[in-house]
Amino acid sequence: MFKKYDFETYTDRTGLDSAKWENIPIPDAQVSEGFSKIPMWVADMDFATAPSVIASMLRRITASPAFGYYGLPATGYFDAIRSWQLERNGVDIGSDEYISYENSVLGGVANIINTYTEPGDPILLQSPTYIGFTGTVNNAKRTIVLTDLKQDENGTYRMDYEDMEKKIVENNIKVAIFCSPHNPTGRVWEKEEIAKYVEICAKHNVIIAADEIWSDFIVGDKKHIPTQSVSETAKQIVAAMYAPSKTFNLAGMVGAYSIIYNDEMRKKAKEHAATTHYNSPNLLSVYALIGAYTGGGEWVDELRKVISANMDYAYEMMKTWDGVTVQRPQGTYMMFPDFTEFCKKRGKTLDDVLKRCVSVGVICQDGRPFHGECHIRFNMALPTAKAKEAFDRLDRYLIKEEW
Ligand SMILES: Cc1ncc(COP(=O)(O)O)c(C=O)c1O
Repeated sequence: MFKKYDFETYTDRTGLDSAKWENIPIPDAQVSEGFSKIPMWVADMDFATAPSVIASMLRRITASPAFGYYGLPATGYFDAIRSWQLERNGVDIGSDEYISYENSVLGGVANIINTYTEPGDPILLQSPTYIGFTGTVNNAKRTIVLTDLKQDENGTYRMDYEDMEKKIVENNIKVAIFCSPHNPTGRVWEKEEIAKYVEICAKHNVIIAADEIWSDFIVGDKKHIPTQSVSETAKQIVAAMYAPSKTFNLAGMVGAYSIIYNDEMRKKAKEHAATTHYNSPNLLSVYALIGAYTGGGEWVDELRKVISANMDYAYEMMKTWDGVTVQRPQGTYMMFPDFTEFCKKRGKTLDDVLKRCVSVGVICQDGRPFHGECHIRFNMALPTAKAKEAFDRLDRYLIKEEW
């Protein structure tokens, strides 16, 4: 069905120091004999990156195989970011000046936290939340204040604005982290939802670190709305973080970028980043970005179809599982089903379920560190045949067979 690019080859990355392939994130869990491993946890993809990425890196290597000290290329890097943002998000950044290299998206988020708050200060996060935010805020010795997303009658996660404002006021919040699209729920926020979030933050002088690393993974019928695009105020109070790393499977190359329109905020953030001396670009990752953003559009669009197909398969199957509640994500390549009723009905704990998944080779992730009480997080970025195999195994050994 998806012909032009190869999203079917499945490569066992054992022995290559892959976090996803070398580790099992569930304590005391083991893959039983006779089952192959299908890692479906940490957010990288079991696909080779886009051909345009490899071509761009190779061009740079062959043009000059000297890898000394280099700055960002005078042409190519900023142009690529600006054209990608225009093409994918309809955003005309206007000037290269607003774009800054960041070593990683979490590095950029941490930099905003460190620039605008002191140790001990509270940071507002939505719950469920991405485990990386928890780590970033804890590492910075700030405290986490959670505002819960609420599921409506259709199970769609919604922001609770009243609770959010209350938490901001009670805790004197100065910085909020906003994840859009949202990991782990897969929500792609509507313009009105984002505008209301921004408005409340603006009213209380809260700066927003908007993590939009998943913006290229819209896998439903929605559109990614960049947080900064919702109003003139948003442009002034939001530091937006983007990267080609999630989209093109380049996390190991290291490299991201921020867009900050507010001159004072950008100056402060840059000054603070400079204090660490840890924010210089990796040469090849710069060329990876150029290749990704100038020639990778069609590849991403095909990839999104593959992820969509995987999600459809898993969603339709999980809907038939008694006691499991699941939403079809609108974005990201993660699924986050709730096993609460399943556990109650079967007299099992979430740990039992996680271990059972791993025992049949499906290496998934505990949802609790993401604040999903009895949830499991599944990474769907793998060839469709393997995604099907994983869910077929679960259907047989977790659901249908007694254990
Ligand atoms: C929302 C979100 N932000 C950031 C990251 C990590 O980005 P980086 O490796 O650039 O810090 C991830 C990875 O899964 C993520 O899901």
